This record gives sequence, structure tokens and C-alpha cells, in this order.
Amino acid sequence: MYTPDEEKIAVPVGTTLDRFIKQHQQAFPHASGELSQLLRDIALAAKVVNREINRAGLVDIIGGFGSANVQGENQQKLDVIADIRFIRALKNGGEVAAIVSEEKENIIFTGNDHGKYVVAIDPLDGSSNIDVNVSIGTIFSIYRRITPVGSQPTIEDFLQGGRKQAAAGYILYGSSTILVFATGHGVNAFTYEHSLGEFFLSHKNMQIPLTGNIYSCNEGNYYEFPEYVQKYITNCKSKRYAARYIGSLVGDFHRNLLKGGVYLYPPTKKTPVGKLRLLYECYPLAYLIEQAGGQAFSDIDRDILDIKPTDVHQRSPLYIGSTEMLDDLHHEMRNE
Ligand code: AHG
Ligand code: MN
Ligand code: MN
Repeated sequence: MYTPDEEKIAVPVGTTLDRFIKQHQQAFPHASGELSQLLRDIALAAKVVNREINRAGLVDIIGGFGSANVQGENQQKLDVIADIRFIRALKNGGEVAAIVSEEKENIIFTGNDHGKYVVAIDPLDGSSNIDVNVSIGTIFSIYRRITPVGSQPTIEDFLQGGRKQAAAGYILYGSSTILVFATGHGVNAFTYEHSLGEFFLSHKNMQIPLTGNIYSCNEGNYYEFPEYVQKYITNCKSKRYAARYIGSLVGDFHRNLLKGGVYLYPPTKKTPVGKLRLLYECYPLAYLIEQAGGQAFSDIDRDILDIKPTDVHQRSPLYIGSTEMLDDLHHEMRNE
């Protein structure tokens, strides 16, 4: 219809998130449309939060909110803003019956008892980077509820275990804003085009390289790490690997997913059970990494997705990334 020269001056814009969801409807668990709508609701909240983040510095939304969250950590204003935006979008969307948020101690009932899903969310990941213009993110995990639709959900809907996730993903607000998610059939990423206000498919069926040369951890805690982690880090140094650590899990994870690498948050003396939260940090990223051909574990004999949770805010050690690098770490663990 058009000549090659004509095509060249108006290149196609690509596949929007909406079109992708429609085209892949069959790949969504239970394929009845509600999960697709839920992902659209998350994408909408992501656009709003992205706008707030981009305005940070111009309006009064940088800095502390003057309160602590359930983890006893100081809340930043953007923590609170992102929490409000995501919860509102999920409530208004109608598909979600209850939400667990890092920022709220108790389960949030949306009033949509006919919704088939529950969501666990870290609305703003990497809070310490907000004030300094460094990448931050959002992480989410979606379950199909096990309590009867029509009744009020219970904590059991959230404690099904990582293998029961129906979908999971994250948004990285970085040099560009990107939404990455999986529904059980591979990992795809959508980059936000500001001027059109749309997410476009940018990374199809992502696979993490089998190995890499990046290790990511807070090495300031080195003397508190278990010996096997210390040995592993020494090996990384002797192989001249690159140390890369942003301090935003989403950012560190995303880089390693693209380039190959390993992220470690071991138990420390200060946090003997690990720092990261199982339901809305570890599980969703472990779900993604498995589908991208990597692995995630929390201990020598514990694939993180197999941990049976007992508390919605529980923490866990996390080792996640390229398979061959994690095999080396596992080897050090076995030799202890
Ligand atoms: P959050 O901002 O949601 O509380 O998460 C912070 C997490 C994670 O993003 C990051 O990788 C890690 O904490 C950084 O911890 P350290 O400062 O102890 O390295
Ligand atoms: Mn976090
Ligand atoms: Mn957070």
C-alpha cells in the first residue's frame, strides 16, 4: 500500500500494552478478561505515579512524610502517594477483592467481594533513592483468591505460596519507565512513551543470560554476611566481576535481567531473617526470573517460591539472577 520510502517517514509505533493483552488473552490464566483488566489498572496507576515522580523536585513531594510504616521504616511522601495511587486504581478497577501493601499493616479490603483476585504490592521500591533522582520502582504480585467469590477475602488468599501467583511484575521509573510482567507464559516488557501516554512492547519474551559478570549486594554489610556469601564475593572479585548496586531492588534486578548477573540480600546480624519482603519483593521477582530462565533461592535447600508463608509482611534472604552464577553460590553453601 505504501512505498518503502513512505513507510520510512512514518514508522509504525509498535504494539501497545492493550493490544498485546488482547492478542494474548488466551495465555492469561482462566482467560476470562478480569486479569487483563487488572493489569490495565496497574498500568494506569503506573502512569500516574510516573507523572508524580517526574514532578518531584518541582512540587512539595520529596522528603519524609513524618511517619513509619509497618516495618518501622520512615515513610517518604512518595511512598504514601504511590500507595494511595495504586490502591485507588485497584479499588476502582473492581477486579481486586483485597490488597496487601508494604505501607499498611492490615489487609485492605476493597469492598469488591466479587473480585476474583488479590494483590500484594510494594508501591514504591527504593525509597532511599527518591530524594537523589535515582531509579525507583513498584513491585506487584497477583493471586486468584481461594476463598469463595462473593465473600470477604481472608489472609489465606495471600498465603498461598509463590508458586500460586497468577501474574507478577514491576515498574521501573528509570532513564525510561518500563512495565515488566509475566502471567505464566514468559516475561515481556513495555516501555512508556510519554508523548502518547502509552506503554509499548519493547522487550519480547525476555531471557536472562545464563551467566554474567555483575554481582549486586550491599557490600557495606560484608562482615555480617554468612561465610559462604563472603567466599562467593571473594570469588567474584578474583574473576574481576563488576560490582553494581543501586539500592533499588527493581533497578538492580532489571539491569541483571538484561545483562546477566546475580543479586544478593543475605541474612545479616541486623536482619537475621533477611531484609526483603517475601510477598511483594521476593516472590514476584522469583516468578519472573524463573520464566526468564534464571533462578532464585533463599537458602541451600529452599527455592524461594516453595516457602510456605505465615505472615503477609515476612522477610526472607534473597539470591536471584543468572543460573550459572547462582550454581556457584550454591556450591559455596554446600561446602560450608
Ligand atoms: P523499600 O524502599 O521498598 O523499603 O525497599 C528497599 C529495599 C530494596 O529496594 C533494596 O534493594 C534494599 O532495600 C536496599 O537495602 P540496603 O539499603 O540495606 O542495601
Ligand atoms: Mn522495596
Ligand atoms: Mn517500598
